[in-house]
Amino acid sequence: MKTTICEGVYRVGAIDWFLRDFHGYDVKRGVTYNSYLVRGSAKTALIDAVKAPFVGDLLANLAAHGVTPADLDYVVVNHAELDHAGGLEALVPMCTKAEIVCDAKCKNVLSVYFDTSAWNFRIVKEGESLSLGDKTLAFVETPMAHWPESMATYLPEDQVLFSMDAFGQHYPTYELFDEDVPLTDLMHELKHYYANILQALGKTTAAAVKKALPLSLRYICPSHGVVWHKHIGEAIAAYQKWSAGVADRKVVVCFDTMWRSTELMAKAVAAGAAEVEGTDVRLISFRSTPISDIMTEVLEAGAIALGTPTQNNWYMPTVGAFLTAMLGLRTTDKLTFAFGSSGWAHGGADKALEALRAAGLTSITENPVRCLWKPTPEILEQCREAGRNLAKALQEKAS
Ligand code: FEO
Repeated sequence: MKTTICEGVYRVGAIDWFLRDFHGYDVKRGVTYNSYLVRGSAKTALIDAVKAPFVGDLLANLAAHGVTPADLDYVVVNHAELDHAGGLEALVPMCTKAEIVCDAKCKNVLSVYFDTSAWNFRIVKEGESLSLGDKTLAFVETPMAHWPESMATYLPEDQVLFSMDAFGQHYPTYELFDEDVPLTDLMHELKHYYANILQALGKTTAAAVKKALPLSLRYICPSHGVVWHKHIGEAIAAYQKWSAGVADRKVVVCFDTMWRSTELMAKAVAAGAAEVEGTDVRLISFRSTPISDIMTEVLEAGAIALGTPTQNNWYMPTVGAFLTAMLGLRTTDKLTFAFGSSGWAHGGADKALEALRAAGLTSITENPVRCLWKPTPEILEQCREAGRNLAKALQEKAS
């Protein structure tokens, strides 16, 4: 595994190739828990740890650089979430001389998770720094990117920003840098991560990015995925776009179906939207696509058409899960309408539309497009027209 970022700075964390459920959202490739070793002329620091079951990997990777936990002078904890801090419980007792460097909020959280009574904390604040001899660690508070205690660490001599969750991607690889993996895949994983982890925290993430911009940056070392090097500009531009809520002329048509009637309606809606030149249309079935992938598609979409049959006078449970994700991730500034089939009661699409409005989306129709049992050619034409109108409304909003 490649580990050398620059002289004295090494990636020593772990790869979790087989994880597919990252605290509730799907990851297709697995995950990395990045930990970084920084060796100065006088002192040695570890930047963040790994998830608890991966401490052995971290120790082996440190040993490959001739370092034991007892050699560490500092263990910097940028973030208390357990995918990084979980390993501290086993690691810290082995670090016989190290100070545990974090902000006061982080210490409080760590002290809830672990018995830290024997930990030798050094509490740092925004603007403070530690000297490792010929290298310096400067601390930058980045609250709510991802948790209240989140912090980044900057190494000015080598122009390295240890950015924690910001700019992370779930992209396990034995490669080290962004230029060593396909950029399209990497940018997709950056988007997937942002859409599902940081989207709800757009304002505080934007504030964290703003703090990073004045820094000279040769490397951004996130706590997940590869190191940004050649493509730092693309990663920052993407974060600026997403955190500002800038939408594309993209329509996402997502639906569930029982006996394919709502599916036929969804296809007609999508076909209608696609008739408007320049519209990017995605047709997504809740049955075949994980919510985390749908939220990734929704991130840059300016409009969502939501289809559901009626089940027990309500929308389908998959639609409820989608609406929950939308609410939690605050995906609200979008145009919308609802549609769906029903038998003897048409509550599903109506309740879906109510929920979309309650979430703050703007419906282009007063009522859902409904059909009884099976869509007639007339109903399918209504669906096409609604799809066209949604794409046109988005076009007008964008102009
Ligand atoms: Fe990767 Fe918020 O922890």
